[in-house]
Amino acid sequence: MPHFEYRNGELHCESTPLRTVADAVGTPTYVYSRAALVENYRAYDAALRSHPHLIAYAMKANANLAVVATLAREGAGAEVFSGGELFRALKAGVQPKKIIYAGPGKTREEMRDALKADILMFNVESPAELALLDRVAQELGARAPVALRVNPDVDPQTHPYISTGLRSSKFGIPMAQAVEEYRKAARLPGIEVVGVHMHIGSQLTKVAPIADALARVVNLVETLRSQGLPIRYLDVGGGLGIRYRDEDVPTPGQYAEVVVSAAGRLGLTLILEPGRSIVGNAGILLTRVLYNKETPDKRFVVVDAAMNDLIRPSLYDAYHEILPLREAPGRPARTVDVVGPVCESGDFLAKDRALPQVEEGELLAVMSAGAYGFVMASNYNARPRAPEVLVDGSRYAIVRRRESYEDLIAGESA
Ligand code: LLP
Repeated sequence: MPHFEYRNGELHCESTPLRTVADAVGTPTYVYSRAALVENYRAYDAALRSHPHLIAYAMKANANLAVVATLAREGAGAEVFSGGELFRALKAGVQPKKIIYAGPGKTREEMRDALKADILMFNVESPAELALLDRVAQELGARAPVALRVNPDVDPQTHPYISTGLRSSKFGIPMAQAVEEYRKAARLPGIEVVGVHMHIGSQLTKVAPIADALARVVNLVETLRSQGLPIRYLDVGGGLGIRYRDEDVPTPGQYAEVVVSAAGRLGLTLILEPGRSIVGNAGILLTRVLYNKETPDKRFVVVDAAMNDLIRPSLYDAYHEILPLREAPGRPARTVDVVGPVCESGDFLAKDRALPQVEEGELLAVMSAGAYGFVMASNYNARPRAPEVLVDGSRYAIVRRRESYEDLIAGESA
């Protein structure tokens, strides 16, 4: 993983030994590399250089203020999925005219907040939502800039929980209804039709499904324009996969080129909403070995991070590489389950994994944890959530402190 490498036998993030962070901040702890974040963002930005474009970072992947602010300073916008993400984006300094509000269940209050903030556009997912947005905008004396999220009906060939572009999915408006819905939208006084949006799924490792979907959506844009609808934005969503293990994935630059070759000639502003491919391999989860445990059937390594810190292995059977902070040449490998302290059999970070023999007290890094890691963390089993650290060269900052027991009960009364 770029920017997370062994130097003199010790795993570093940039020029900072991860051991230094663990000793000072404790474990479990999320650690992000500023250089990796910026590099990943710039790869997208550079690939779209010759076209009007916006990289609207998908905040759901990692909404830490320092992470978002780092990207905003590079020029990134934000794709938000809730009022909370909108709040965070504004706090992190994202320009309102670079914010896109997506999601199938926006409430009236969330619509009002976004209209008052004067965001770039709403990605609307159903006729009912469009009707409500029209009313809310009229109440405010505003017009809501809108793209309809169309469902291009392609199989993204990824995990079913993160596939969104199939006809059976809850997301988007079916392609066959799209033109009709656009015509209706254009007649609503509180709505200004400005764009088309699609997003077919996440952790996509092939460009073919994206190219297929794009071809259909480009077709739609041409039809809408021929009917006099002024489509200015084409938002192709996010979804580019990353290497967790040995996946061969296109780079952000290659992916952006696919978008340009399909849609560049339309003269639209091209919008991408990458999340995972910007932050996923820019972060790790640091954890410490509590116990080695052997039963007649299995070997377990019990660590101090758990499914409440990183739920991806439990929820999607996702693979995250696990590396000892101290390089392990010559140490014998053993097949183990790496498990946490939580009261669930589904609480594991790795199953039947060949790991070098590790000692109690030893520090480990769970790799590729920058996306959908901390943001999906919970307080299950009354476990305080882990802190987040941002490394910049040989310096680091705690950008979210570890939760305390008092934090756990804040807002409750007995
Ligand atoms: N835009 C929309 C409309 C989305 O629904 C998503 C992700 C993205 C952009 C960003 O996709 P990305 O570039 O990060 O793939 N928790 C799951 C991933 C859920 C993705 C949901 N939507 C996981 O841990 O794999």
